[in-house]
Amino acid sequence: MEIEIREYREEDEQEWMRVHAIILSISHAWNYSIQERPNYEGYESTRLVAIAEGRIVGLTDTQYENEPGELCFLNDSRGGYVLEFGRLPEFAGHNIGRLLIDATVEDAKRKGFHRLEFWTQDRAAQRYYARLGMREIGRHYRFRMKATEAIDCALEKGRIGIEYLYCVCLPEEWPRIKQQYEIITRHPLEPHLCIGYEIRF
Ligand SMILES: CC(C)(COP(=O)(O)OP(=O)(O)OC[C@H]1O[C@@H](n2cnc3c(N)ncnc32)[C@H](O)[C@@H]1OP(=O)(O)O)[C@@H](O)C(=O)NCCC(=O)NCCS
Repeated sequence: MEIEIREYREEDEQEWMRVHAIILSISHAWNYSIQERPNYEGYESTRLVAIAEGRIVGLTDTQYENEPGELCFLNDSRGGYVLEFGRLPEFAGHNIGRLLIDATVEDAKRKGFHRLEFWTQDRAAQRYYARLGMREIGRHYRFRMKATEAIDCALEKGRIGIEYLYCVCLPEEWPRIKQQYEIITRHPLEPHLCIGYEIRF
């Protein structure tokens, strides 16, 4: 099957949104579904789509930092943060992910950047990045918990309702935190281990 990687065009918007929604439904990588196509105003970006059989079957967006550390975890130089990445499930087995990453690297180089970060809460994507040989740069748990009495009181208890708190902690703290607080475990609000990877070029 022939796969073409090309730049995203404005006229792709509706199709991009539909393909994005399908990819989002098969991965734990995203916290929210989106109703507007991100445009990364004020930032340089690489926005690519994979085309097969005349339609969009994969996509990736990278936003580049204006200042080191603004978006990425590592801050030794300005990096690119890969925010959107995936392909339709029925197009598995064609290495579309690799083609999208390679094309992003080429564009990043042209723009004068030398590193990309990939962060994901999706276990399959974590295995995939590790398998590609990307270097792990960090991990943390992301979880939602009920507000404690002290937080409720600090925030006008009774006037401001706190549905839940969205929190982050290091893996070594997680066993204790899990015991100590009321963690929300039901899907789609369950906790996830988020792992960051980078590639340099
Ligand atoms: C990540 C993703 C883009 C990779 O898709 P792909 O490039 O089509 O991958 P392929 O099916 O062609 O597989 C390519 C290779 O990677 C391997 N691979 C694919 N998924 C893997 C996984 N979850 N774990 C380990 N290896 C994996 C395949 O075995 C294959 O290896 P081979 O070349 O030795 O045969 C795809 O799984 C995806 O779209 N996932 C959902 C969206 C997502 O979670 N994105 C990450 C957002 S952070």
